[in-house]
Amino acid sequence: MNPLLDGGINVNSTTVVIGASGAGKTTFAIQFIRKGLESGQEGIFVSLDENKEQIIREAVEMGWKEIMDHLKEERLVFIDASGKDFSNFIRKELHSFVNDWKGAGARIAVDPLTPVIWALENNYEQRELIGMLLKQTRRVGTVLCTLEEHGTEGDLSGKETAIPMYLADCVIHLRYKAMESSTNRMLKIVKCRNSWHSEVFHPYRIITGLGLVVQHENFRKTIKKESTVLLVKELEKNAHLLPKNIYQRMQKTFKDLTDAELGEISHSELMRHVIEEYS
Ligand SMILES: Nc1ncnc2c1ncn2[C@@H]1O[C@H](COP(=O)(O)OP(=O)(O)OP(=O)(O)O)[C@@H](O)[C@H]1O
Ligand SMILES: [Mg+2]
Repeated sequence: MNPLLDGGINVNSTTVVIGASGAGKTTFAIQFIRKGLESGQEGIFVSLDENKEQIIREAVEMGWKEIMDHLKEERLVFIDASGKDFSNFIRKELHSFVNDWKGAGARIAVDPLTPVIWALENNYEQRELIGMLLKQTRRVGTVLCTLEEHGTEGDLSGKETAIPMYLADCVIHLRYKAMESSTNRMLKIVKCRNSWHSEVFHPYRIITGLGLVVQHENFRKTIKKESTVLLVKELEKNAHLLPKNIYQRMQKTFKDLTDAELGEISHSELMRHVIEEYS
């Protein structure tokens, strides 16, 4: 996952993972909490669907036997709630919870957030309460919420996905086609604020003992642009046409450019744009 996200999910950010039933959302959420615990962070797992025993069983099946120790020693807190209970918690108790935990640097997973959205009356209330949940919990640490994908595969425009997608910092889509056999799982990072990220679909598998394994071999290599060198040369040729500060800024900008960002634009076209814009 990390190579797709410039090193991984940022601390104190909020991420939404969207996927159909069986896509691997719960597995992803468990993995997220596990990684935090393994690096010394505390974990809070809010489960809206499955009870504690089910989640533990799945975690152990994925090779995470230590989960029992983390629970016993209270580094991992498990909250089992319904959509109604949790929406009431956000309204009434979130504030004092955040005051108790703020700055803890913990990881929080909510799996899935969908019943909370359904427990709310209208779009306005959904936006307000989900907004409050994300804004407040990020003060505690790093937050990951999963969302069920309903309706047509790949259509993320339904309101119960659209609202959290707008509000979260990062959005990860687990595209899952249950009908096909081998390459039926694809992961794509839809957005990630303040961070470079991959913009293409990556096949992933769920492997016992490991969880989600995303394929991204040589991925960075293919996006690092050889032609940025040419672009910088082109810039040098046109230096006399640009103000000094713009020239310096462009030098840096071009050096950090990737294939993915450049897309179909040729370097001469981009150079022309810079000259038109700034000369
Ligand atoms: N121990 C395991 N070994 C290999 N694959 C597994 C294992 N456990 C689960 N899976 C695979 O992961 C899939 C489900 O993962 P998960 O429960 O994380 O999905 P989900 O997106 O949370 O689904 P739902 O929306 O139904 O809760 C299963 O369909 C199965 O293919
Ligand atoms: Mg699940």
